[in-house]
Amino acid sequence: MKFLLILSTSLALAFAGTVDPDLQTAVDKGQTTSAILALPQIMAQVESNPALLSLSGDSKVTALVASLQGLTSAAQAPFVSIASSLGLQIQQFWSSNIIHVKGLTPEKLAQLAATPGEFEIRKEHVVSIFPSIEVHPAEVNQGPNQWGVVKIRAPDVWSTTRGEGVVVAIIDTGVNLGHVALADSYAGGWLDPHHSTPGPTDVQGHGSHCAGTVLGTQNGVGVAPAAKWIACRGLNNTGNGTEVELTACAEFMLTTNPRPHIISNSWGGRGGSTFFNTQVSAWRAAGMIPIFALGNSGPLCRTAGSPGDQPNLISVGNTNDQDGMNFLSSRGPSIAGLTKPEVSAPGTQILSCGTGTSNYVTMSGTSMACPHVAGATALLLSANPTWGFDEVYAALTTTAARPTLTNADRNCGLPGPDDFPNNAFGHGRIDVVAALGK
Ligand SMILES: *[C@@H]1O[C@H](CO)[C@@H](O)[C@H](O)[C@H]1NC(C)=O
Ligand SMILES: *[C@@H]1O[C@H](CO)[C@@H](O)[C@H](O)[C@H]1NC(C)=O
Repeated sequence: MKFLLILSTSLALAFAGTVDPDLQTAVDKGQTTSAILALPQIMAQVESNPALLSLSGDSKVTALVASLQGLTSAAQAPFVSIASSLGLQIQQFWSSNIIHVKGLTPEKLAQLAATPGEFEIRKEHVVSIFPSIEVHPAEVNQGPNQWGVVKIRAPDVWSTTRGEGVVVAIIDTGVNLGHVALADSYAGGWLDPHHSTPGPTDVQGHGSHCAGTVLGTQNGVGVAPAAKWIACRGLNNTGNGTEVELTACAEFMLTTNPRPHIISNSWGGRGGSTFFNTQVSAWRAAGMIPIFALGNSGPLCRTAGSPGDQPNLISVGNTNDQDGMNFLSSRGPSIAGLTKPEVSAPGTQILSCGTGTSNYVTMSGTSMACPHVAGATALLLSANPTWGFDEVYAALTTTAARPTLTNADRNCGLPGPDDFPNNAFGHGRIDVVAALGK
């Protein structure tokens, strides 16, 4: 009897949930009524399942989504029933094992937190577009192709491929479907968790600029002008997005048709945050290539933002037209010690699509470098349809141009005996001709 009692007590302790103190304070003060209930992640067991690994293509993605949905829904069931008995509103997710809970009071939070199990109730993560350093209308065309497109030598492979057959997703403030350089390449895939607009639109402008650099068809702005796009408005009109909205975007990418081959993400938040890691793992398991901007918080070391500072993805630093590192481009290593970024690309004074029907604006930042790599990846996949993440990663990193480093570029450490890779440029500034072996 005594033994049983001790056993049950220790079990209860081992599986007790926790409430983050910041959330507790905010709910006590009436500053918020919403929270994230985070359960242990099940992605590792799903992605390493031999049955899943033996599948490929559509059947693999279908099985992946079904396993994630089944396992998370079973784990979430007790919380769903308590939340419902407390009259709380909930939204369940499966690419991350989280439940968004609304309608909390201090009493209801205490009752929810008393549910047996291992979990944390915490605040929702908020991220933003990495603010562009300069934005001004550009009246002057810079020649047939914009400098960044030329620098990575995209036009030199356009006789082989312009990105035909590849779909790139833009998770950002939206995409301006009305722009002449973007209208014809929309592949038909749009989710707007903020405003539920029926079709692609972009009030802020950041997402349209990024989309234009990936595949804009006019004014020489696009790296892969024959690729197609879909989009999710994970960031609102002031450039902010929440964990809930971005996770909705992550799941849209896994369920929409056509599925994207590449996902371009010019957003993030404070470094060292793992909240988006399982979503990225799900994309990878589905064969998608995640590309992230690293942030504009340089030049100090360890200024990389998340998710870009996390593993399993390609993060991008910002170079100028002289192949120098942009002063503000975030530097590695990540807080966990990873060399970051993986590669660099043009991101300084980039001309691309605006929010009108045919206007162009100039912006700077790793947000502009990221879509150069997404466009380059579209060219690589179009020419090599069997390639996956590993082949793209190897092609981009082993062939990147290696500019002469300044002392400042070496300042954040060199992981090997050579100058490259380093925590400013990563493996170097991408070169499409070299990556394609042309
Ligand atoms: C919203 O985004 C802007 C950048 O666009 C940023 O300066 C601000 O801190 C963000 N707000 C929150 C709550 O994250
Ligand atoms: C954008 O999102 C942030 C974070 O959720 C929020 O604080 C802000 O009010 C929103 N702005 C608009 C215009 O929707």
